[in-house]
Amino acid sequence: MNRAVLLTGATGFLGRELLRQLVEELPTEQTIYCLIRGHAEAKSAHPTVPAPSQQAQAEGRLHQLLAELGYPDLTVAKVARVQAVGGDISQPRLGADHEHLTALIQHVGHIYHGAATVRFDHPLAEARRINVEGTRQVLELTQRIKAAGGTTRLSYIGTAFVSGTRRGRIFESELSTDQPFHNTYEQTKAEAEALVRSYMTDHGLQATLFRPSIIVGDSKTGETSSFKVMYWPLKVFSRGLIPIVPAARAGIVDMVPVDYVIAAIGALSCRQESIGRCYHLCAGPEGATTIGAALDQAAAFFRVRKPLFVPTETFERYIRPLFRLFFRGKRRQALDAGRVYVPYLNFRASFDTTQTRQDLAGTGIAPPSVHDYFAKLMRFCVDTNWGKSPPRPSTAGGAG
Ligand SMILES: NC(=O)c1ccc[n+]([C@@H]2O[C@H](COP(=O)([O-])OP(=O)(O)OC[C@H]3O[C@@H](n4cnc5c(N)ncnc54)[C@H](OP(=O)(O)O)[C@@H]3O)[C@@H](O)[C@H]2O)c1
Repeated sequence: MNRAVLLTGATGFLGRELLRQLVEELPTEQTIYCLIRGHAEAKSAHPTVPAPSQQAQAEGRLHQLLAELGYPDLTVAKVARVQAVGGDISQPRLGADHEHLTALIQHVGHIYHGAATVRFDHPLAEARRINVEGTRQVLELTQRIKAAGGTTRLSYIGTAFVSGTRRGRIFESELSTDQPFHNTYEQTKAEAEALVRSYMTDHGLQATLFRPSIIVGDSKTGETSSFKVMYWPLKVFSRGLIPIVPAARAGIVDMVPVDYVIAAIGALSCRQESIGRCYHLCAGPEGATTIGAALDQAAAFFRVRKPLFVPTETFERYIRPLFRLFFRGKRRQALDAGRVYVPYLNFRASFDTTQTRQDLAGTGIAPPSVHDYFAKLMRFCVDTNWGKSPPRPSTAGGAG
């Protein structure tokens, strides 16, 4: 049986925590390959010297990442087995060179595929190129491994939001690509998951599907390396830039801290019985909060006025045009950029977690209550000036 692990998306918010867990948990004889892109803008230091190769760039990024994760000594056995593979999931054969592709085919026994674009505003073709075609290249690798006589399994990182505009309870076993979506991210992640499922049924691929909801920082420290997704609207709100929000107070907010997501993937991804299953790594109907409750807590923390909630139709018809007339600078930017988040302020689906709870029973791994950690997330944002500076010592209480 092949022993090495391949991780895609290691340089991302979730991927770096997944890499940390793999480094800590896997026996040191297991190689961990990380497929990493070069920087498109990488240039040579001098006109006569060629630009660094994709492989050299990937190695440089991996070393920097390992240092950031607290592993400055690359000779330590548990870190020395982590190897960069320069590539791009959207390219044929993952954009890897022949030598590295051969190594992946010969040695990889488990793939964690998390690389994706998480932008809501990509044109459909661009989102498809990365999320669907990128997943296809990963799936093709599983077939190459099989053709070479190896065995491999796939842990696929999807999203609960493949449910698109559906309302009510969404079950872990359900997936439809034939329905409306809020954006190209949801649509292409649904198409990618459908593709994974087709390889499971048509090619006997052994795969486990993970569908997190909105992933936020660590539940104990509030720490996050990314200020995307939920953090952007929270930042706008903390500055009191938008006094009226197009939201329903009862809109469902399902978020989960990254430490829970990582622990759950760690516990479930290697079990035999999780092959063929799909897990909602979500707060679920029992643990999700509402936009009203979250903004009340945020208003108290940041000491800003509670916003006025108005129905989306009213906002779009009367208030947005009015605001666009009067707002300038940052307020105008926030108004325009915030458009992609509006569907999530009025979200009416809840993610059923029956399978996840059943399979995690007895492990002690469960999503903590959002009310217990939300203040820690906001504290970390303030302490780091929303990721712009290193954390400063925390002070108790509100925004200060
Ligand atoms: N964040 C959330 O709230 C959330 C919630 C549910 C599910 N998820 C899922 O979790 C996964 C990771 O999300 P994230 O929030 O960690 O995103 P992220 O921080 O934007 O990281 C994305 C990762 O994918 C890599 N990537 C993108 N395009 C690539 C390409 N063409 N070739 C190779 N690598 C590529 C990026 O590499 P570069 O560093 O080179 O850009 C980066 O490492 C995604 O599958 C996402 O759908 C995220």
